[in-house]
Amino acid sequence: MFDATDIEIVPLGSACGAEIRGVDLKKPLPQEVVDKIQKAWNEHLVLVFRGQDVTQEDQLRFAANFGQLGARKQAPDQLRDRAEGVLQLDPRVLLVSNMKQGGVPIGAFGDGDMWFHIDSGYSERPYKYTFLFGVALPSTGGNTMFSNMYKAYDALPEDLKRKLTGRKALHIHEYKRSEKVDLNTDISKVPHWYHPVFITHPKTGKKALFVDRLMTARLEGFSSEESDEILSFLYEHGESRQFIYEHEWQLGDFVMWDNLATIHARTDFPRHENRLLRRCAIEGEPVFE
Ligand code: OGA
Ligand code: MN
Repeated sequence: MFDATDIEIVPLGSACGAEIRGVDLKKPLPQEVVDKIQKAWNEHLVLVFRGQDVTQEDQLRFAANFGQLGARKQAPDQLRDRAEGVLQLDPRVLLVSNMKQGGVPIGAFGDGDMWFHIDSGYSERPYKYTFLFGVALPSTGGNTMFSNMYKAYDALPEDLKRKLTGRKALHIHEYKRSEKVDLNTDISKVPHWYHPVFITHPKTGKKALFVDRLMTARLEGFSSEESDEILSFLYEHGESRQFIYEHEWQLGDFVMWDNLATIHARTDFPRHENRLLRRCAIEGEPVFE
């Protein structure tokens, strides 16, 4: 029999990701449906809702079912023009866009590809979850790729797991999209934090690899040569195709991901075409091994 709290969960491949059908995100949802979505999220890490039509208020209301809405991180003064846009009027909303108004960016992250990263991984409390709604899309490209960091952890060689257990890594960000921070400069004014290389997910209790190409710069307690060598291996490993779901955006897509159990990246897209996604996030806590 039809039950108004039924949802359909359709996996999007073997790595991670599932499409959820039968939910209208404009409407307030019964707790039972929220619980089903949370359960599917813990399992599939990336959830996709197609054909949605959500205002900013709808998006924030839906996201708030999963925790405290996160404030947009404030970049230090010398980096502000890379991170801020003129249409980002709500402190909880970030516009992922290459669009400009009067020559000034309306949002953040501009053009081009973006390396794999953890949202706000450079901070003490990386966001738990991120939500993106597709508002304007280019004719091709600009896909978002998600990699399953539980699977990446599980598949690591045992000797490397032993070697990196109890270790931390430096996460640092200068608001560049496909370039690392140069550690030979003064990093005191560049946002950074040390996190365990492996974390235990606070909700599922599972271990995840917590390293990414864009922001993880240095392993603590190793020579810089050995750190570079291990990190290169970990980036490649974490970006293995078998762990990745690649999302090809359609207008009306609403995508939400577990920011502690996945890393994500963006593919390139034509510069003269508009792309706009509306983002919000859930506040994080310190992460532990
Ligand atoms: C983000 C992000 C990727 C994209 O919003 O955090 O990384 O596809 N976006 O624009
Ligand atoms: Mn991101």
